[in-house]
Amino acid sequence: MTTTGTAIDATQIEADARRLAASHPAEIIAEALSRFDSLTVSFSGAEDVVLIDLAVREAEKQGRSFSVFTLDTGRLHPETLEFIQQVSDHYGVTIEAFAPQAAAVERLVRAKGLFSFRSDGHQECCGIRKVEPLGRALADVDAYITGQRKDQSPGTRAEIPVVQLDPGFGRQDNPLVKFNPLANWTSAQVWQQIMAYGVPYNPLHDRGFKSIGCAPCTRATHPGEHERAGRWWWEEATQKECGLHAINLAEPAE
Ligand code: ADX
Ligand code: SF4
Repeated sequence: MTTTGTAIDATQIEADARRLAASHPAEIIAEALSRFDSLTVSFSGAEDVVLIDLAVREAEKQGRSFSVFTLDTGRLHPETLEFIQQVSDHYGVTIEAFAPQAAAVERLVRAKGLFSFRSDGHQECCGIRKVEPLGRALADVDAYITGQRKDQSPGTRAEIPVVQLDPGFGRQDNPLVKFNPLANWTSAQVWQQIMAYGVPYNPLHDRGFKSIGCAPCTRATHPGEHERAGRWWWEEATQKECGLHAINLAEPAE
């Protein structure tokens, strides 16, 4: 529900995206907080911690609230799990963990082993461990905030707007709004923000991990390599979306 009770209109969201395109991420988060009663942050346990830092401060200013969730795929690095708890303690926010359906994981692992993604591609495993739980995480919210940035993937994220409708997880009669406040920030800007505000960060970043996902599908990158090179490195760069952000792969309208 929006705070004004008005219906979500696709044309309006596109206009909002144009209006907010050059805004600071804090302003975009402030607008999301003021407009949506049920707003959640999708937190991966990596440098997207800046979203929580900004949201905590903006929510306090406005006297508004938001929730945070993470998809605990069962394959995250121990460091990431520790970090998620650290962030929860540091900011005093509950980070709701969504786990995959045990029966689906068991079926996959019994049929194909623990590393099927190396030969079959990551879509099936991500579908079970990330996409299905994401559907549950988003079932009862009006809007959510992600840490996607254009510079993360020239192949799939170059066009992401700061706010958009999510047709994948929303429904026509119950639309879901997706905010990407960091879309126009570079990695360097995110790290300036982390350092300037003493934001806690995942210790894996100090060990050469630029982008962090599940442990078996993430490696440290070499200097000069693009951050996405450390994700599903055995696959084509154009396929490096796991279904969380499937709209990034949608064909542009003719
Ligand atoms: S992914 O699709 O390739 O895995 P990426 O790691 O770039 O995504 O993260 C982009 C954004 O997706 C994050 O900032 C976060 O909002 C969301 N996201 C990714 N992984 C998770 C996760 N495990 N739990 C919650 N949100 C996530
Ligand atoms: Fe499975 Fe790898 Fe996808 Fe994690 S990133 S859900 S381990 S394929």
